[in-house]
Amino acid sequence: MAWSPIATELLLVSAVFCLVLWVARAWQPRVPKGLKSPPGPWGWPLLGNVLTLGKTPHLALTRLSQQYGDVLQIHIGSTPVLVLSGLDTIRQALVQQGDDFKGRPDLYSFTLVTDGQSMTFNPDSGPVWAARRRLAQNALKSFSIASDPASLCTCYLEEHVSKEAEALLGRLQQRMAEAGRFDPYNEVLFSVASVIGAMCFGKRFPQSSEEMLSLISSTNDFVETASSGNPVDFFPILRYLPNPSLQKFKAFNQKFFRFLQNIVQEHYQDFDESNIQDITGALLKHNEKGSRTSAGHIPHEKIVNIINDIFGAGFDTITTAISWSIMYLVTNPEIQRKIQEELDRVIGRARQPRLSDRLQLPYLEAFILELFRHTSFVPFTIPHSTTRDTILKGFYIPKERCVFVNQWQVNHDPKVWGDPSKFRPERFLTADGTAINKTLSEKVILFGMGKRRCIGEVMAKSEIFLFLAILLQRLEFSVPAGVKVDLTPIYGLTMKHPHCEHVQARPRFSTK
Ligand code: HEM
Repeated sequence: MAWSPIATELLLVSAVFCLVLWVARAWQPRVPKGLKSPPGPWGWPLLGNVLTLGKTPHLALTRLSQQYGDVLQIHIGSTPVLVLSGLDTIRQALVQQGDDFKGRPDLYSFTLVTDGQSMTFNPDSGPVWAARRRLAQNALKSFSIASDPASLCTCYLEEHVSKEAEALLGRLQQRMAEAGRFDPYNEVLFSVASVIGAMCFGKRFPQSSEEMLSLISSTNDFVETASSGNPVDFFPILRYLPNPSLQKFKAFNQKFFRFLQNIVQEHYQDFDESNIQDITGALLKHNEKGSRTSAGHIPHEKIVNIINDIFGAGFDTITTAISWSIMYLVTNPEIQRKIQEELDRVIGRARQPRLSDRLQLPYLEAFILELFRHTSFVPFTIPHSTTRDTILKGFYIPKERCVFVNQWQVNHDPKVWGDPSKFRPERFLTADGTAINKTLSEKVILFGMGKRRCIGEVMAKSEIFLFLAILLQRLEFSVPAGVKVDLTPIYGLTMKHPHCEHVQARPRFSTK
């Protein structure tokens, strides 16, 4: 009997389909008896669930968690990805089973950061990573929240922020005199970069150089590509096709690395062990002292890698937080008024706010917590990966499984927050309104938790508080009547609001 061409084609397509299914099944790890794999949606061969993720993966994965639960599995291309939601489940994985979940996956985009030598974006989670993390943490602490013996301020951070916030006040008033409006993101970016620049490099930081300004203003080229679920990490072919955002990501990383390398190199030439004044100096000193064989030893040419991690994380995240704050304040004038009433009552107008005022300003603190929760502008942690075969909530998770941790879901879980879509700072105040409800505040997750928890959390919270307190004591922010402010977040490692060039600031009182 002769086969018709259509029947032959059908047979061939079915055979290829069966083969793809068989290969996909054969690749799945064997699940030990009595255990099961996490549930998840059906995915297309070769594509997996990438189309479901779309342009807002944090929302898509939140919807999936309502259907499949806190431990679910998707595929991006042919790569299985574990997705964790729910505060208790995330705490169980990252804290109670922290060693199992502390790894980072081997993603293509990670190899492009800091020449593949980043402490943050790197599959290493062994003793070398642990020693570098400790070193970075200590150096950061010494030059942010530790006291500066040569200054009247509480600490280095207060000294730098007070100075930069004062300069920012002046610049905003100048913009108002010149143009009658400004784009808050660009203005805040410069001030926040100057703070972390001063901490990392002291006076050597080229604060206003063209190179530095062009670099910091292209940080979006980084956060867009370094986001969880970027197809370039899961479909190798996309690395070879024309891909403008990948090209920009590569260019940004190279320029950023070179820029920092030059400053660190300069620093090394005139390094004086008896006079350490910044994070680079502290790292160089550690190396002079450290044993050359210990895991903690870092050759001086590698110090730039740690600086890259600290500097990079230190300006983008904080700028994003302060800029979002201004956007929420102009769209919620009533909340702005309450913060300013509190500032007037507690601090008055005769002196600048200080870090030590923080406990006496619970409403401002509640505003910051609600901003973190409501925007969840770091929607996922940086991807994790399992370091060994493990079991989570009865599900079997094999070694080296890529893990996405959905912070946005936790911060919008109706079971925890009741009315998650409402912006309501009061939810974080105690019944008498005089303090923060600590138990509730600990349910906001924006800095990760466990072994990979952000090392800049304490500094970031203090810096955001002080910038906002100083700005809001002196200025009232607004947008002209009729201007529509778009608060739709743009997905990325950090989510930004669309640029708004119509913000205005009016002095609240005369300082003459
Ligand atoms: C509002 C500000 C910030 C937010 C929301 C934030 C959030 C995060 C998150 C979500 C992670 C990933 C945690 C994980 O993978 O589980 C992280 C890691 C990290 N952050 Fe931050 N961060 C902020 C500010 C900072 C600052 C100011 C610095 C340093 C000056 C910093 C340095 C780091 C470093 C080095 C890591 C990597 C830790 C590791 O992989 O071991 N961050 N941050």
